[in-house]
Amino acid sequence: MSEVQQNAGGAPDPTYDRNTVLIFDTTLRDGEQSPGATLNLAEKLEIGRQLARLGVDIIEAGFPVASPGDFEAVTRLAQEVGQMEHPPVITGLARANKTDIDRAWAAVQWSKKPRIHTFIATSDIHLQHKLRITRNDCLEQVGEMVSYAHGLCQDVEFSPEDAGRSDPEFLWQVLAIAIQSGATTLNIPDTVGYCTPSEYAAMIEGINKNVPGIGNVILSAHCHNDLGLATANTLAGIEAGVRQVEVTINGIGERAGNTSLEEVVMALHTRRQRFGNLRTNIDTTQLVRTSRMVSAMTSITVQPNKAIVGANAFAHEAGIHQDGMLKNPLTYEIMRPEMVGWNETNLVLGKHSGRHAFSERLKTIGYELTREELDKAFERFKILCDKKKIVTEADLEALVADQFESINEVYKLNALNVTSGTGNVPVASVRLVDEEGEAHEDAALGNGPVDAVCNCINRITGVDAKLTEFHVHAVTEGIDAIADVTIRIEMTSDSGKRMVFSGRSADTDTLVASGKAYLSALNKGLRRRQTVK
Ligand code: KIV
Ligand code: ZN
Repeated sequence: MSEVQQNAGGAPDPTYDRNTVLIFDTTLRDGEQSPGATLNLAEKLEIGRQLARLGVDIIEAGFPVASPGDFEAVTRLAQEVGQMEHPPVITGLARANKTDIDRAWAAVQWSKKPRIHTFIATSDIHLQHKLRITRNDCLEQVGEMVSYAHGLCQDVEFSPEDAGRSDPEFLWQVLAIAIQSGATTLNIPDTVGYCTPSEYAAMIEGINKNVPGIGNVILSAHCHNDLGLATANTLAGIEAGVRQVEVTINGIGERAGNTSLEEVVMALHTRRQRFGNLRTNIDTTQLVRTSRMVSAMTSITVQPNKAIVGANAFAHEAGIHQDGMLKNPLTYEIMRPEMVGWNETNLVLGKHSGRHAFSERLKTIGYELTREELDKAFERFKILCDKKKIVTEADLEALVADQFESINEVYKLNALNVTSGTGNVPVASVRLVDEEGEAHEDAALGNGPVDAVCNCINRITGVDAKLTEFHVHAVTEGIDAIADVTIRIEMTSDSGKRMVFSGRSADTDTLVASGKAYLSALNKGLRRRQTVK
C-alpha cells in the first residue's frame, strides 16, 4: 500500500458537460444484494476492472461498514482500479452516521477520485417504523452527516432513501439541507420500485423547481424494478433532467433488481435524437462481455429474452422476419449485434495454443489474471483441450469463472461417482477434502443422480442445505460441449435465519459440474456462517 497516495478527495470534474449522462454502476453494491449473489474479493476486482474497461464513470464498490470483507473489497478496488490512468470515481455506501462514513472514507480514500455516498430514509413510513425518528431529527441528521462527510471528502453523494414515497415538500427541504451541507450529487431512489415513469419525472421536475441550489449539483436516478419499470423510470428521469443514472449489469439487485445498465445505455445510444443528443462514456462493444462476466461470477443467469444481452436478443425466428432481415437488416433490427459486442468468433484456441495466446485471449474477454491464477487456468485449459477440440470464448469464460468460484473453499471435491439408470435407485459416492487436507467419504441415495450427489455432500458436511434451483446449459453446441450448471440452495444460519447461496460450475461431465456447483454454493454458506452468527 506504501506507493498508493492518500487523496484528500476528488471534487466532481468542473469541466463536466451536461450533455453527458454519467453512469454510476452499483453492481458490486446493490447488485451484490441480490439473493445468492455473493462475490469473493478476486471476483469483485475482476468485475471492477471490466467496469473500468466498459467506461463507467463511477463504481459503487460496496458498503464498507457491512463486513470486513466488504471493507477490504472497497479498499482494494480504490487502490487498484481507482489508481488507473483515467480511473472511475470509486465510492462506498454509508448510512448517515459517523461510524459508517468513517469506514467508507477509510476504504475509498486510496482512489484518485474518491466519493462518499451517504443516505437516510425520508418517507414517513421509513421514518416512523424503521428509524423511529421525527422529520426534524432527519433534517438535523442530514445536515450534520453530509457536512461531516464533506469534511473528509469533497465529492459527497446524498440519497434520501424511499424518495419515491416521500412527501415532496419534506423531500425538497431535506435536499436543500444536503446541498447547503456540501453534497455534490443528489440521488433520488425509488427504493421499492413503486413509481410510474410520469410520477418519477414529476418528482425530478418538482425537485428542479423547488430546491434552492439544485443547479450546482448533479441529480441522479436510482430505480428498482419491482413493477418492471426501472428502465422506463430512469429514462423518464433523464428526460426530466437527471445526469447520473445508478444501474447494474444485467439489472441485478435487491428483489426484482435495479435498472439495467445496458438497457439505459443502448436506449440513449439508439434513440439519441429522442434524448436530445445526450451521450455516455460507455464503450458499448464491451456490454455483452461484461454481462457474461457478471452472470458467471454471481451465478445469476441472464434470461434468454433479456434486452441487449440475452441469448435471443438478436435472434430472428419467424420466417417473415428472417426474410426481411436478409433483404435489409433495418427491417427488424434497431441495433447491430456487434455494437454491443455480439461478435465473438467461435474458433478461438485449441490444444496447440500456447500460454501467451491463451493469456492474450483471456485479456480480450476481460480477465487479467495474476501469474499464479494464469498457471492454474492454463493447466485446466490443457485438460479441457484433451476433451474438446475447439475451445471458444464462452468455454474460456466458464473455465475462468469456475476457477474464481473455487477460491475460499471449505471443502474441495476430490472424487465423485454416480450410478443411475432404469430399475435402480440412483446412488452417489463422493470424496471431499477439507481445509486441513483430510479426506471425507460417504455414499447416498437420491430421487435422481443430482439429488443423490447433493444428499451425499450434505451427509459429509453435516449441512442440511436444500437445493431450490438447478439449471444446466451447454456452453457451446456439440457432443463435447461443456455443461454449465447453476445451482441455488437454502441454508439456515445458526440463529435460524434463512440464507440463499448460489454456485456455478462447468465441466464436460454434467454430474461433476453439478457436484462442484452444489459444493461451491455450500462453501459460500459455510463461510458466511463463520462470519454471521
Ligand atoms: O434503493 C435505495 O434506496 C438504495 C439507496 C441506499 C441508494 O439503494
Ligand atoms: Zn437501491
